[in-house]
Amino acid sequence: MRLDVVTIFPEYLEPLNVSLVGKARARGSLDVHVHDLRDWTYDRHNTVDDTPYGGGPGMVMKTEPWGEALDQVLADGYEAGRGAPALVVPTPSGRPFTQELAVELSERPWLVFTPARYEGIDRRVVDEYATRMPVYEVSIGDYVLAGGEAAVLVVTEAVARLLPGVLGNAESHRDDSFAPGAMANLLEGPVYTKPPRWRGRGIPDVLLSGHHGRIARWRRDEALRRTTAHRPDLIERCDPAAFDKKDRETLSILGWAPEPGGRFWRKVEDVEE
Ligand SMILES: C[S@@+](CC[C@H](N)C(=O)[O-])C[C@H]1O[C@@H](n2cnc3c(N)ncnc32)[C@H](O)[C@@H]1O
Repeated sequence: MRLDVVTIFPEYLEPLNVSLVGKARARGSLDVHVHDLRDWTYDRHNTVDDTPYGGGPGMVMKTEPWGEALDQVLADGYEAGRGAPALVVPTPSGRPFTQELAVELSERPWLVFTPARYEGIDRRVVDEYATRMPVYEVSIGDYVLAGGEAAVLVVTEAVARLLPGVLGNAESHRDDSFAPGAMANLLEGPVYTKPPRWRGRGIPDVLLSGHHGRIARWRRDEALRRTTAHRPDLIERCDPAAFDKKDRETLSILGWAPEPGGRFWRKVEDVEE
């Protein structure tokens, strides 16, 4: 996969050289190119921003440097035979970045990121490139960062660990929180490693039982417990067909019951407690 990042803070992307993403680069699974937007400015101050039309506080990133930068980056990638690019635009007003979206992006051959600063990029830039390629406007959460570089790091790491050959154990992301399949929409429960006792604290006996069926059930119950506690919205949205008889028993113990339509909701008496 090829990644291009255009930014006014190339040094902010240094973490792309370390850990999992760094190793993926070293092994050739990821081909990362970081570009300084100011290379496409021609005035003495390397200006990339201007005052907003309509007035108001803050500055807006200008069309010209972004247009020239993206044209050049795209031309270089096409010349390198990278296939179809997609533009990833970090913005708090984008669609939420989820594991599902990470999977979708991991299947593309080439991502071009446009992390902004100030009040964001002149809208015409996104509209222009949307006529040429898929554009993903993504938000990494309901808060406002000073710039999109941290969002690029978040998206890149989530995507990179899904690429074939990047994780040592290809099964590692199968049981992750939000992973598609049996654990769809559930958070992962607690995990433990050696030693078996630490500061007087043991580990659940079932994990030492060697009984795969019971361990799988325990993990599923813990996932249900954690999800009901931290993300009840995920349970409420879940297709009830995803819950087997045992899940339903566990949910009932946790104070959840199916509505006439089948979806699970926390019982009113529990909510009022
Ligand atoms: C100060 S923010 C601009 C916020 C903008 N005025 C708004 O309210 O939507 C500057 C840049 O940081 C990035 N950014 C900030 N919060 C983000 C978030 N939650 N997810 C993704 N990118 C974000 C985007 O690139 C954004 O254009």
